Amino acid sequence: MLEHLSIQQRFRLLLVVSLACFALCGVIVFRTLAEIRVNGPIYERIMQGQDLVADILPPPAYLMESYLIALQLNDADAAHTAPLLQRMRMAEQTYQQRHRYWLAQGLSGELEEKFLKQSHQLAESFYATAFAQLAPALQAGDDAAARRVLSQLGAIYEQQRLVIDRVVALARARMAADEVAARERIQLMAWTLAVMFALIVGVFILIFNTVRRSIADPILDALKITQSVASGDWNQQIRADARGDAGRLLHAVRDIVKNTQAEIVKAEKMAALGSLVAGVSHELNTPVGNGLMAVSTLSEDLRSFRGKMQQGLKRSVLDEFLHSVETGADLAMRNLQRAAELVTSFKQVAADRTSSQRRRFLLHQVAHETQLTLHPMLKRANCTVVVDVPQTLQLDSFPGPLGQVIANLIENAARHGLEGSGGVITLSARPATDTTLTISVSDRGKGIAAELHQHVFEPFYTTRLGQGGSGLGLHIAHNIVYQILGGSMELTSAAGSGARFDVTIPLIAP
Ligand SMILES: Nc1ncnc2c1ncn2[C@@H]1O[C@H](COP(=O)(O)OP(=O)(O)OP(=O)(O)O)[C@@H](O)[C@H]1O
Ligand SMILES: [Mg+2]
Repeated sequence: MLEHLSIQQRFRLLLVVSLACFALCGVIVFRTLAEIRVNGPIYERIMQGQDLVADILPPPAYLMESYLIALQLNDADAAHTAPLLQRMRMAEQTYQQRHRYWLAQGLSGELEEKFLKQSHQLAESFYATAFAQLAPALQAGDDAAARRVLSQLGAIYEQQRLVIDRVVALARARMAADEVAARERIQLMAWTLAVMFALIVGVFILIFNTVRRSIADPILDALKITQSVASGDWNQQIRADARGDAGRLLHAVRDIVKNTQAEIVKAEKMAALGSLVAGVSHELNTPVGNGLMAVSTLSEDLRSFRGKMQQGLKRSVLDEFLHSVETGADLAMRNLQRAAELVTSFKQVAADRTSSQRRRFLLHQVAHETQLTLHPMLKRANCTVVVDVPQTLQLDSFPGPLGQVIANLIENAARHGLEGSGGVITLSARPATDTTLTISVSDRGKGIAAELHQHVFEPFYTTRLGQGGSGLGLHIAHNIVYQILGGSMELTSAAGSGARFDVTIPLIAP
């Protein structure tokens, strides 16, 4: 997912993600501390509960003080009535002030109903009764009325006290609940912090790994490839899917490898051409030279025969001449034939795609046809070929050159591996991948020593010099496999334990 970003952008992303993670952690810690700190919302609520209890227990929430003043008023003489009434007014004012304060505190539920409504109504009616009825009755000296009003006030005071008892119980319950809630909240926050931290660390590690992989892997790949190439292995598979800067590095390495490889192939071809020309001249030199010598001996013989004929033709001279013509012509013929054979082989070395026919064919058909063509040679060498090729293997390739590769390998197995003493040669084929197959030719003959493996594919390398071997068979097969069929060839063998040639080619030739 990061392929389209450059290395710089990836590092920037990593930095931004880390900063964001730390900022998020900071915000959570700050918010938790702000909530539970002294004077924070949780603290305030608990303090409010304590305030509430502290405020309502003594007057003025209780009408106790005002009721005591009312009782004193009843017993007081005229001189003390006014100051007592004044104290009751003060008590009412204090009460109203506190009531307004609590109205603004946003109490709710039963607490609001009991404390701000029921208790308040009773307090209002207490003061209204006290000022509107008790004071005039006392001023008028109406003792009976005053006692009546006083007992009314007593009843109101009792009622309000009951309501306030309930309010105190409610306030205490709320405080306890607030404390539990605060504890739970702090616990929840601690957990949230821990989970958030784990999450952030996880995301951080994930992103870090992704960035590391997307940067480090292509570089390590490139390193591996350059090291392999440096140690001489050119056939390194290079991942072509890497994108971004690292991908570009990998592609650049691949291009260097390809270009260098192409240069080396070119140089090798030039060198091969040079040695081929040298080989060709050397190989042709013998038969052409022999042929030339035979023909020149013939012409020499002819001239001396003509001289002898002018002195009169003797039978013995004629016989001698005929014999030398026969030998000379035979020698010239054989050497010219050898030269012609060599020229045919040379032509095959340069076999290319344009001169070969491409078509769809069944591999087992080509295998059987090749076996048939080789039948006389195999019979002479006392060899049998076991063909193990599935009937279904179909190719879109060059059947002619492929048949020639198979023929060269079977011929070598019979001639060199089994050395004419006979035996079994196996020709088998198996799919290698979805798009390639491997054809194997193996024998249980004398095998090829490991140090000779790199030489057997060279042109003119043969261990049967002067016995019909030109050393071109494997070189031709190699050329066909790599240049026409687009495949590869591998030799597995050790001296004394037979040889196996594996030819791996694409089902559809390039
Ligand atoms: N199956 C095999 N077992 C043992 N040696 C082998 C086998 N195949 C090839 N060789 C060795 O590899 C050499 C090169 O083989 P190549 O086919 O190129 O040339 P050649 O068979 O000698 O000559 P040509 O094929 O041109 O007639 C052979 O001379 C032989 O020594
Ligand atoms: Mg050969």
